[in-house]
Amino acid sequence: MSSSQHWISGVIILSTLLGVDGFNGYYQNAVSQCRFSSWDLSDLEYIQSYVFNKAEVIRFNSTVGKYVGYTEFGVHNAEAWNNDPAILAQRRAQKDTICKSNAQITINAVLTKKIEPEVRLTMGKASTGGHPALLMCSAYNFYPKMIRVTWHRDGQEVTGDVISSEELADGDWYYQTHSHLEFTPKAGEKISCMVEHASLTEPREFVWDPSMPEPERNKIAIGAAALVLGLIVTAAGFIYYKTKSRGRILVPSG
Ligand SMILES: *[C@@H]1O[C@H](CO)[C@@H](O)[C@H](O)[C@H]1NC(C)=O
Repeated sequence: MSSSQHWISGVIILSTLLGVDGFNGYYQNAVSQCRFSSWDLSDLEYIQSYVFNKAEVIRFNSTVGKYVGYTEFGVHNAEAWNNDPAILAQRRAQKDTICKSNAQITINAVLTKKIEPEVRLTMGKASTGGHPALLMCSAYNFYPKMIRVTWHRDGQEVTGDVISSEELADGDWYYQTHSHLEFTPKAGEKISCMVEHASLTEPREFVWDPSMPEPERNKIAIGAAALVLGLIVTAAGFIYYKTKSRGRILVPSG
Protein backbone atom coordinates (compact mmCIF):
# COMPACT_ATOMS: atom_id res chain seq x y z
CA MET A 1 0.00 0.00 0.00
CA SER A 2 1.52 3.28 -1.07
CA SER A 3 -0.20 5.10 1.78
CA SER A 4 2.31 3.53 4.15
CA GLN A 5 4.87 5.93 2.72
CA HIS A 6 3.88 8.62 5.16
CA TRP A 7 3.51 8.70 8.87
CA ILE A 8 0.17 8.81 10.53
CA SER A 9 -0.81 9.76 14.01
CA GLY A 10 -4.35 9.21 15.18
CA VAL A 11 -6.03 10.01 18.44
CA ILE A 12 -9.75 9.44 18.78
CA ILE A 13 -11.03 11.08 21.95
CA LEU A 14 -14.42 10.51 23.51
CA SER A 15 -15.28 12.52 26.57
CA THR A 16 -18.31 11.67 28.70
CA LEU A 17 -19.71 14.04 31.26
CA LEU A 18 -20.32 12.13 34.47
CA GLY A 19 -21.52 14.85 36.77
CA VAL A 20 -21.62 18.58 37.40
CA ASP A 21 -22.20 20.48 40.59
CA GLY A 22 -22.45 23.97 39.22
CA PHE A 23 -23.16 25.46 42.63
CA ASN A 24 -19.89 24.26 44.17
CA GLY A 25 -17.98 24.21 40.87
CA TYR A 26 -17.39 20.47 40.64
CA TYR A 27 -17.09 18.72 37.32
CA GLN A 28 -16.39 15.10 36.61
CA ASN A 29 -15.88 13.41 33.28
CA ALA A 30 -14.41 10.29 31.75
CA VAL A 31 -12.15 10.40 28.70
CA SER A 32 -11.57 7.45 26.41
CA GLN A 33 -8.77 7.61 23.88
CA CYS A 34 -7.75 5.38 20.99
CA ARG A 35 -4.18 6.18 20.00
CA PHE A 36 -2.24 4.79 17.05
CA SER A 37 0.55 5.69 14.69
CA SER A 38 0.77 2.63 12.46
CA TRP A 39 -1.31 1.72 9.43
CA ASP A 40 -1.87 -1.83 10.62
CA LEU A 41 -2.91 -0.61 14.11
CA SER A 42 -0.25 -2.84 15.66
CA ASP A 43 0.51 -0.09 18.20
CA LEU A 44 -3.14 0.65 18.99
CA GLU A 45 -3.57 1.80 22.58
CA TYR A 46 -6.73 2.26 24.58
CA ILE A 47 -6.70 4.77 27.44
CA GLN A 48 -9.55 5.37 29.82
CA SER A 49 -9.25 8.18 32.35
CA TYR A 50 -11.46 9.57 35.08
CA VAL A 51 -11.03 13.30 35.55
CA PHE A 52 -12.22 15.46 38.42
CA ASN A 53 -12.04 19.23 37.96
CA LYS A 54 -9.52 18.82 35.11
CA ALA A 55 -7.17 16.69 37.23
CA GLU A 56 -6.75 13.08 36.17
CA VAL A 57 -7.59 10.75 39.03
CA ILE A 58 -7.10 7.31 37.53
CA ARG A 59 -6.13 5.85 34.17
CA PHE A 60 -6.41 2.50 32.46
CA ASN A 61 -3.70 2.09 29.82
CA SER A 62 -4.14 -0.98 27.61
CA THR A 63 -0.38 -1.26 27.12
CA VAL A 64 0.09 -1.48 30.87
CA GLY A 65 -3.00 -3.67 31.20
CA LYS A 66 -4.23 -2.23 34.47
CA TYR A 67 -5.29 0.93 36.28
CA VAL A 68 -2.87 3.48 37.72
CA GLY A 69 -4.04 6.05 40.29
CA TYR A 70 -2.74 9.61 40.42
CA THR A 71 -4.47 10.88 43.56
CA GLU A 72 -5.03 9.21 46.90
CA PHE A 73 -8.57 8.40 45.83
CA GLY A 74 -7.30 7.22 42.45
CA VAL A 75 -4.72 4.92 43.98
CA HIS A 76 -7.39 3.48 46.27
CA ASN A 77 -9.68 2.86 43.30
CA ALA A 78 -6.92 1.40 41.15
CA GLU A 79 -6.21 -1.17 43.81
CA ALA A 80 -9.85 -2.18 44.00
CA TRP A 81 -10.42 -2.31 40.22
CA ASN A 82 -7.15 -4.12 39.52
CA ASN A 83 -8.27 -6.81 41.95
CA ASP A 84 -11.50 -7.35 40.04
CA PRO A 85 -10.80 -9.76 37.12
CA ALA A 86 -14.17 -8.97 35.53
CA ILE A 87 -13.39 -5.23 35.34
CA LEU A 88 -9.89 -5.79 34.01
CA ALA A 89 -11.09 -8.31 31.42
CA GLN A 90 -13.69 -5.85 30.18
CA ARG A 91 -11.21 -2.96 29.93
CA ARG A 92 -8.64 -5.11 28.15
CA ALA A 93 -11.28 -6.23 25.64
CA GLN A 94 -12.27 -2.63 24.94
CA LYS A 95 -9.09 -2.02 22.97
CA ASP A 96 -10.63 -4.29 20.36
CA THR A 97 -14.33 -3.61 20.88
CA ILE A 98 -14.08 0.19 21.04
CA CYS A 99 -10.82 1.20 19.41
CA LYS A 100 -10.13 -1.20 16.59
CA SER A 101 -13.22 -0.52 14.49
CA ASN A 102 -13.20 3.23 15.12
CA ALA A 103 -9.52 3.55 14.29
CA GLN A 104 -10.07 1.58 11.08
CA ILE A 105 -12.97 3.88 10.16
CA THR A 106 -10.71 6.89 10.70
CA ILE A 107 -8.00 5.36 8.55
CA ASN A 108 -10.41 4.53 5.74
CA ALA A 109 -12.38 7.75 5.85
CA VAL A 110 -9.64 10.28 6.50
CA LEU A 111 -6.05 9.13 6.69
CA THR A 112 -5.97 7.32 3.34
CA LYS A 113 -7.40 10.31 1.49
CA LYS A 114 -5.09 11.91 -1.04
CA ILE A 115 -5.80 15.34 -2.44
CA GLU A 116 -3.76 16.71 -5.33
CA PRO A 117 -1.93 19.98 -4.83
CA GLU A 118 -2.99 23.00 -6.86
CA VAL A 119 0.31 24.35 -8.16
CA ARG A 120 1.03 27.92 -9.24
CA LEU A 121 4.29 28.97 -10.81
CA THR A 122 4.72 32.74 -10.67
CA MET A 123 7.43 35.33 -11.04
CA GLY A 124 8.10 37.14 -7.80
CA LYS A 125 10.66 39.51 -9.19
CA ALA A 126 11.86 39.99 -12.77
CA SER A 127 15.55 40.17 -13.49
CA THR A 128 16.62 43.80 -13.68
CA GLY A 129 20.00 45.47 -13.96
CA GLY A 130 22.12 42.47 -13.10
CA HIS A 131 19.88 41.41 -10.19
CA PRO A 132 18.61 37.83 -10.38
CA ALA A 133 14.99 36.96 -10.98
CA LEU A 134 12.82 35.21 -8.42
CA LEU A 135 10.40 32.44 -9.32
CA MET A 136 7.87 31.04 -6.87
CA CYS A 137 6.34 27.58 -7.01
CA SER A 138 3.40 27.29 -4.64
CA ALA A 139 1.42 24.16 -3.92
CA TYR A 140 -1.95 24.60 -2.25
CA ASN A 141 -4.67 22.42 -0.73
CA PHE A 142 -2.96 19.06 -0.67
CA TYR A 143 -3.22 16.12 1.71
CA PRO A 144 -1.33 14.33 3.20
CA LYS A 145 1.40 16.63 4.38
CA MET A 146 4.39 14.97 2.76
CA ILE A 147 5.40 16.65 -0.51
CA ARG A 148 8.57 17.27 -2.53
CA VAL A 149 9.04 20.40 -4.62
CA THR A 150 12.23 20.69 -6.71
CA TRP A 151 13.52 23.02 -9.41
CA HIS A 152 15.00 21.92 -12.71
CA ARG A 153 17.08 23.90 -15.17
CA ASP A 154 17.39 22.25 -18.59
CA GLY A 155 16.57 18.90 -16.99
CA GLN A 156 19.12 19.22 -14.19
CA GLU A 157 17.95 19.57 -10.62
CA VAL A 158 18.91 22.91 -9.10
CA THR A 159 20.09 22.63 -5.52
CA GLY A 160 21.52 26.07 -4.71
CA ASP A 161 19.53 29.31 -4.58
CA VAL A 162 16.39 27.47 -3.53
CA ILE A 163 14.45 28.43 -0.43
CA SER A 164 11.48 26.29 0.56
CA SER A 165 8.97 26.80 3.32
CA GLU A 166 7.79 23.94 5.48
CA GLU A 167 4.46 22.37 4.82
CA LEU A 168 2.11 24.88 6.39
CA ALA A 169 -1.12 23.58 7.89
CA ASP A 170 -4.15 25.51 6.68
CA GLY A 171 -6.03 24.30 9.74
CA ASP A 172 -8.63 22.45 7.63
CA TRP A 173 -6.56 19.26 6.98
CA TYR A 174 -5.02 20.81 3.88
CA TYR A 175 -1.43 21.99 3.57
CA GLN A 176 0.44 24.50 1.46
CA THR A 177 4.10 24.98 0.70
CA HIS A 178 6.17 27.51 -1.20
CA SER A 179 9.52 27.21 -2.91
CA HIS A 180 11.57 30.09 -4.30
CA LEU A 181 14.25 29.94 -6.95
CA GLU A 182 16.66 32.77 -7.48
CA PHE A 183 18.29 32.70 -10.92
CA THR A 184 19.76 34.75 -13.70
CA PRO A 185 17.76 34.03 -16.85
CA LYS A 186 19.53 32.71 -19.92
CA ALA A 187 17.99 32.75 -23.40
CA GLY A 188 16.51 29.44 -24.51
CA GLU A 189 16.76 27.64 -21.18
CA LYS A 190 13.95 25.61 -19.65
CA ILE A 191 13.10 26.16 -16.01
CA SER A 192 10.54 24.01 -14.28
CA CYS A 193 9.14 23.20 -10.88
CA MET A 194 8.63 19.51 -10.14
CA VAL A 195 6.06 18.35 -7.61
CA GLU A 196 5.96 14.88 -6.09
CA HIS A 197 3.05 13.88 -3.89
CA ALA A 198 1.19 10.72 -2.86
CA SER A 199 -1.85 11.91 -4.86
CA LEU A 200 0.18 11.89 -8.10
CA THR A 201 1.17 8.66 -9.81
CA GLU A 202 4.30 10.35 -11.17
CA PRO A 203 6.13 13.64 -10.58
CA ARG A 204 4.33 16.55 -12.22
CA GLU A 205 6.37 19.18 -13.99
CA PHE A 206 5.36 22.82 -14.31
CA VAL A 207 7.40 24.64 -16.94
CA TRP A 208 8.00 28.34 -16.61
CA ASP A 209 6.92 30.33 -19.66
CA PRO A 210 9.33 33.26 -19.81
CA SER A 211 7.76 34.73 -22.94
CA MET A 212 5.77 37.23 -20.97
CA PRO A 213 5.84 38.31 -17.35
CA GLU A 214 2.56 37.73 -15.61
CA PRO A 215 1.40 41.36 -15.22
CA GLU A 216 1.67 41.75 -19.00
CA ARG A 217 -0.30 38.56 -19.54
CA ASN A 218 -3.01 39.86 -17.22
CA LYS A 219 -3.22 43.18 -19.08
CA ILE A 220 -3.62 41.35 -22.39
CA ALA A 221 -6.32 39.08 -20.93
CA ILE A 222 -8.25 42.10 -19.58
CA GLY A 223 -7.86 43.89 -22.91
CA ALA A 224 -9.10 40.86 -24.84
CA ALA A 225 -12.10 40.48 -22.54
CA ALA A 226 -12.96 44.18 -22.99
CA LEU A 227 -12.67 43.81 -26.77
CA VAL A 228 -15.06 40.83 -26.80
CA LEU A 229 -17.52 42.69 -24.59
CA GLY A 230 -17.30 45.72 -26.90
CA LEU A 231 -17.99 43.56 -29.95
CA ILE A 232 -21.02 41.96 -28.29
CA VAL A 233 -22.49 45.36 -27.38
CA THR A 234 -21.83 46.67 -30.90
CA ALA A 235 -23.46 43.61 -32.49
CA ALA A 236 -26.47 43.89 -30.18
CA GLY A 237 -26.83 47.58 -31.03
CA PHE A 238 -26.57 46.84 -34.73
CA ILE A 239 -29.21 44.09 -34.58
CA TYR A 240 -31.51 46.34 -32.55
CA TYR A 241 -31.09 49.14 -35.11
CA LYS A 242 -31.75 46.75 -38.03
CA THR A 243 -34.97 45.33 -36.56
CA LYS A 244 -36.25 48.81 -35.66
CA SER A 245 -35.53 50.29 -39.10
CA ARG A 246 -37.02 47.25 -40.85
CA GLY A 247 -40.22 47.72 -38.83
CA ARG A 248 -40.43 51.31 -40.03
CA ILE A 249 -40.10 50.25 -43.67
CA LEU A 250 -42.77 47.53 -43.39
CA VAL A 251 -45.33 49.83 -41.81
CA PRO A 252 -45.14 53.12 -43.65
CA SER A 253 -46.71 55.94 -41.73
CA GLY A 254 -48.13 57.27 -44.95
C1 LIG B 1 0.74 3.69 28.16
O1 LIG B 1 1.76 2.92 28.72
C2 LIG B 1 2.90 2.72 27.91
C3 LIG B 1 3.82 1.78 28.64
O2 LIG B 1 4.15 2.29 29.89
C4 LIG B 1 3.54 4.06 27.64
O3 LIG B 1 4.66 3.91 26.80
C5 LIG B 1 2.53 4.97 26.97
O4 LIG B 1 3.08 6.25 26.78
C6 LIG B 1 1.27 5.08 27.82
N1 LIG B 1 0.29 5.86 27.06
C7 LIG B 1 -0.22 7.00 27.49
C8 LIG B 1 -1.14 7.71 26.56
O5 LIG B 1 0.04 7.50 28.57
